[in-house]
Parts: sequence; C-alpha cells; structure tokens
Amino acid sequence: MSKYKTTSMNPDSPGAQFKIQNSKFKTRSFAPVVAAERLTDDIARLVLEAPEIAQAAQPGHFVGVRAGQTEAPLLRRPFSIAGCDGRSQIALIFRIVGMGTTLLAARRSGETLDTIGPLGHPFDIYDDRPAVLVAGGLGIPPIAYLARTLRQRGTPATLYYGVRTKSELAVLGDTAHYVERLIVSTDDGSEGHPGVISEVVAREVGGNCRLYACGPRPLLDVLIRLARDRHIPTQLSFEQQMACGVGACMGCSIATAHGYQRVCTEGPVFPAEAFFTPSDSPNGVPR
Ligand SMILES: Cc1cc2nc3c(=O)[nH]c(=O)nc-3n(C[C@H](O)[C@H](O)[C@H](O)COP(=O)(O)OP(=O)(O)OC[C@H]3O[C@@H](n4cnc5c(N)ncnc54)[C@H](O)[C@@H]3O)c2cc1C
Ligand code: FES
Repeated sequence: MSKYKTTSMNPDSPGAQFKIQNSKFKTRSFAPVVAAERLTDDIARLVLEAPEIAQAAQPGHFVGVRAGQTEAPLLRRPFSIAGCDGRSQIALIFRIVGMGTTLLAARRSGETLDTIGPLGHPFDIYDDRPAVLVAGGLGIPPIAYLARTLRQRGTPATLYYGVRTKSELAVLGDTAHYVERLIVSTDDGSEGHPGVISEVVAREVGGNCRLYACGPRPLLDVLIRLARDRHIPTQLSFEQQMACGVGACMGCSIATAHGYQRVCTEGPVFPAEAFFTPSDSPNGVPR
C-alpha cells in the first residue's frame, strides 16, 4: 500500500492536481507547466501551477521532479524553488547537465510534471540585521526567492553573485530590483569583478549582517571560514547529489560537526556552525 494519501484521482484531466500527501506540508502534484523558456543556451526556466506546494513553500525549500514522461530517469531530480507567488505558482531555474535536465528543458506549456514538495529545511529568516546574500552559478534560485521575501519583509539585502560569464546574468531576472546592492563577478572578467565571488565577499563583508548563501562547495567552504572568523550568523544551502530526496536512503548525507546529516531532510539549509571543527570552539565543542 502506498505511504501517501491520495486526495484527487485523475492526473490526465486538464489542469488536474493529482495530489498524494504524506505530511501536512509535502504534496505530490501533477503540476501543469504554465511557462517554459530558455534563459541561456544551457539554462532553462519552468513555471509550474502547483497551489499546494506554492502555499507551503519558503525560500530554501526544494522540489523533487520526475523529469521525463516515461520511467527513465527513475529518480526524481531535486531543484530549489526559484520563485513563488505564495498562491499557485512556483518557478524552477536549472542548468542542463544530463539526462534529467535535458528532458525537463524540453517540457512545454500544458504538459504536467510529477512534482513533490516543498522538501527539506528552508532558510530561517531574521529581520534584525541587514542581509548579505551570496550565490555562485546555479546557486541563485533559492537566493533569488529569498531576496524577494526579504524585500517583502522590509529587510535590506546586498546580493553577491558569481557566474562564469556575462550571459549567465540572464538568470537573475528581476532579482536586482529586490536588493539594495548587486555585486557581480565573472570568471572570465566579462562583467563586474574578474574572478570568483568569494574573493569579493571576503574583502567586503563583516560585522553586522546575516549571511545566506547557495553555490558550489568551495564557495560554501570559504563562507564557513568567514562565518567562524568574523562571527557572522550564516546559513548555507547545499546542493548535494540525491537519490530518494525524502530521507529514506542516506545517499545525500554529508559530514557535519554533529555527525552525518541528510541534505534532503536536515538540509539543504544548514547553519555554518554545523561545519565548524571542534578546534574552532574555545571550549573544544562545536559552536
Ligand atoms: C537541494 C538541491 C537543489 C538544487 N537546485 C538546483 C537548481 O535550482 N538549479 C539547478 O540547475 N540545479 C539544482 N540542483 C542540482 C540538480 O538537481 C542537478 O543538476 C540535476 O539533478 C542533474 O540531473 P541530470 O539528470 O540532468 O544530470 P545527471 O545525468 O544526473 O548528472 C549529470 C552530471 O551532473 C552532475 N550532477 C548531478 N547532480 C549534481 C549536483 N546536485 N551537484 C553537482 N553535480 C551534479 C553529475 O555528477 C554528472 O556529472 C539542486 C540539487 C539539490 C540537491
Ligand atoms: S536522498 Fe535519500 S536520504 Fe537524502
């Protein structure tokens, strides 16, 4: 017997929301694609009609998507929620890197996507200090969603965004409108600071702020050291490769100061302290 509760039955009818719920917050939805576009040669954006997911979503949550229309690929692919209207729609932005994302990028308006979400532990949002947002490459989706949410809450934010080359800035969309300052770096020097964004963040950021970030592990490792050395409250979203995506297989586990933790369940957002080593703490225990 399925562990999910089926609440509506016809996935093939137009606009159907075939919902199977396994918790108050997590919904399986056959979500109609309402917009599909290419942002660059290898980056695509999909907007899905998924009211139950949209109404429960927070920045940092992700969804698990069946990319194809057949059995392959078998495993759902995880994608951060890149934007959400809070009522009915969510957006996903992804780089085409393999079979799943190739199939997803070929999806068109009117098709439905078997989607589970919202999944994982989102960012804990505070309004007591200005926010510093840091994103590297396709780490931008959850940070863009967070930027909009902070603006709605009246919390000022600065966004540091590093990409390979200028054309990838198309991924930003209207995110620049939601932050006070946008600082960009490109690996090839075609726009903004030449080099990696972690260098700029390390040069400029300190003191009275809260830092939220998503991106490749080397970027997150720099931010963990920064958080430790400059005492900046920091939350990091990890994009570890996943299998089940719902806490059952341990395939996404990463080493933390508190032992191995599942990125899909305890994460993807973790406090930087979870990665401080015992020697980072004055009394020998992780802070
Ligand atoms: C919580 C979470 C949120 C994510 N959000 C986004 C997002 O918003 N946008 C986005 O573009 N991607 C995101 N990713 C990564 C995305 O899930 C993978 O790129 C995707 O699953 C690849 O599927 P595929 O079938 O196309 O590639 P595959 O055929 O599975 O793999 C192709 C290549 O990509 C590598 N790869 C696959 N997954 C990852 C990964 N997680 N990290 C690094 N390398 C990987 C593989 O090792 C392989 O070399 C997220 C991952 C996680 C865990
Ligand atoms: S992917 Fe299976 S436990 Fe996280």
